[in-house]
Amino acid sequence: MNLTLKVWRQANEKAKGSFETYQVKDVSPDSSFLEMIDGLNEELIEKNIDPVVFDHDCREGICGMCSMYINGEPHGPEKATTTCQLHMRKFKDGDTITIEPWRAKGFPVVKDLMVDRGAFDRIIQAGGYVSTNTSGNTLDANAIAVKKENADKAFNAATCIGCGACVAACPNASAMLFVSAKVSQLSLLPQGQVEASERVMNMVNQMDIEGFGNCSNVGACSEECPKEISLENIARMKRDYLKASISAD
Ligand code: SF4
Ligand code: FES
Repeated sequence: MNLTLKVWRQANEKAKGSFETYQVKDVSPDSSFLEMIDGLNEELIEKNIDPVVFDHDCREGICGMCSMYINGEPHGPEKATTTCQLHMRKFKDGDTITIEPWRAKGFPVVKDLMVDRGAFDRIIQAGGYVSTNTSGNTLDANAIAVKKENADKAFNAATCIGCGACVAACPNASAMLFVSAKVSQLSLLPQGQVEASERVMNMVNQMDIEGFGNCSNVGACSEECPKEISLENIARMKRDYLKASISAD
C-alpha cells in the first residue's frame, strides 16, 4: 500500500505545531498502525530528520499508551480497538491518513503525538486504592461473598486501560468515563467499601483540578472507548458522589 500521512509535529508543549505531509510506500496490509509509523521513522532517521514521537509500550491493547487521533477518531476507525491493535488492512491503497495527538487541556502535548497523561495518575492517587486488614486475622478474599452481577460489573470497569480516548472523544474533554470506571471497579466490591465516600469525592475533585470538563451526555466516550466501558459507570459515580456529598454536610 502507498499512503499519504499528515502528521502533527510539535517540538514541545509551548511550540506552535503544524501538520507535515509524508509519503510511505509498500506498507504491508498486515502490519500494525504503529509498525507503519516505525517504518516512516526509519526513513526519517536515514534522511537526518527528527522521527515522529509517539507513545507505545505493550502493543497488545493492554497498557493504554498508544494514544492518537487517526482521521479524527481516537484510536482510529476500528471499534473496540487500540491504535496498536489496528491493522493497515483497515485502510485502502492511496488513502490519506491524518494523525494527531489527543487534544485536551488536561493532556498537554509533550512532543508530536505524545501527550502527558499524568493527570490520570494523580486522579488514581487521590482515591484508587483500598484498605486491607494486615492484623493477621485477614479474611480470605475467596470467603467474601460477592454478587455475580456486581463481580461482573466490577471486572468490566477494571478493564479500563487509562488510555484517555474517552477524554479525546468528548466535546467537553470530560474524564468522567475513566474516573467512573476506576471508582466502580472498587465501589462495587465489599473490599472497596471502607473508603467508598471519600474515594468518589477525592477522585472527582482531582478530576476538576486537572481541568477536565463535565459530562455533556453525548456518549462519544463510551462509543470510542477501546474497552467499551459502559456509560452506566458514570450514572453510578454521580449517584455515589451525591450520596457522599449529602452525608458529608
Ligand atoms: S474509559 Fe475507555 S477510553 Fe477512557 S481511559 Fe478507560 S479504556 Fe480508555
Ligand atoms: S501500546 Fe499498549 S495498548 Fe497500545
